[in-house]
Amino acid sequence: MQLATLLPMILSTLSLTSALPNGQAATWRATNFTLQCSPGGCAYRFNITAPASENAPGFQTYCEGITPNATACANNTITAAVSPVTNPTWNVKVQHEWHVIEEDYNSEATYWQAGSANVTETTTAFLIKPDVFYGVA
Ligand SMILES: *[C@@H]1O[C@H](CO)[C@@H](O)[C@H](O)[C@H]1NC(C)=O
Ligand SMILES: *[C@@H]1O[C@H](CO)[C@@H](O)[C@H](O)[C@H]1NC(C)=O
Ligand SMILES: *[C@@H]1O[C@H](CO)[C@@H](O)[C@H](O)[C@H]1NC(C)=O
Ligand SMILES: *[C@@H]1O[C@H](CO)[C@@H](O)[C@H](O)[C@H]1NC(C)=O
Ligand SMILES: *[C@@H]1O[C@H](CO)[C@@H](O)[C@H](O)[C@H]1NC(C)=O
Repeated sequence: MQLATLLPMILSTLSLTSALPNGQAATWRATNFTLQCSPGGCAYRFNITAPASENAPGFQTYCEGITPNATACANNTITAAVSPVTNPTWNVKVQHEWHVIEEDYNSEATYWQAGSANVTETTTAFLIKPDVFYGVA
C-alpha cells in the first residue's frame, strides 16, 4: 500500500470505531515545527518523540513534507500529513505503525496509532494525544 493513501484511509475508517486498548496512550511531543508557504505549496518540518507505553513502542524522528499529502518521516514507521483547516489553522496528523511477532501463533501483527493537533504558522511546539488505535493479526 502506498504511504500517500495509507494515512487518510486509516484515519477515515478508524476514527469511527476507535477504541483504546488497556492502558493509556503516551502523549507525543513535537518540537521545532516550521511551516513556510510559497506559491508552490506549504513546506513543514518538525521533530517528534513518543515515550514507550504499555501498548506501543516509543519513537523519535524528524518529519518534513509538503501540504496536504501524507509523507513518511525519517523513520518511515511514522507518517505525517499537514492540511489547512480554516485560516490560520492547520491540522497536523501523525500515524505510527509497528509490528509485533505473535510467537504463540507464529504470525506478525500490525498496529497503528494516530492522532492530530491544530497549529498555526507561528506554532513551534505542540502535543499529540493519539486517539486512534488499530491492529490486525
Ligand atoms: C528545537 O526545540 C527545542 C525544544 O523546544 C528547543 O530547545 C530548540 O532550541 C529548538 N531548536 C531549534 C533549532 O529551533
Ligand atoms: C530534529 O531532527 C534533526 C534531524 O534528525 C536533528 O538533527 C535535530 O537535532 C533534531 N532537533 C531536536 C531539537 O531534537
Ligand atoms: C499529492 O497527492 C496527489 C494524489 O496522489 C498527487 O496528484 C499530487 O501531485 C501530490 N502533491 C504533492 C505536492 O506531492
Ligand atoms: C523506527 O521506529 C521503530 C518504532 O516504530 C523502532 O523500533 C525502530 O528502531 C526505528 N528505526 C530507526 C532506524 O530508528
Ligand atoms: C481541529 O480543528 C477542527 C476544526 O475546528 C476540529 O474539528 C478538530 O476537532 C480540531 N482537532 C483537534 C485535535 O483539536
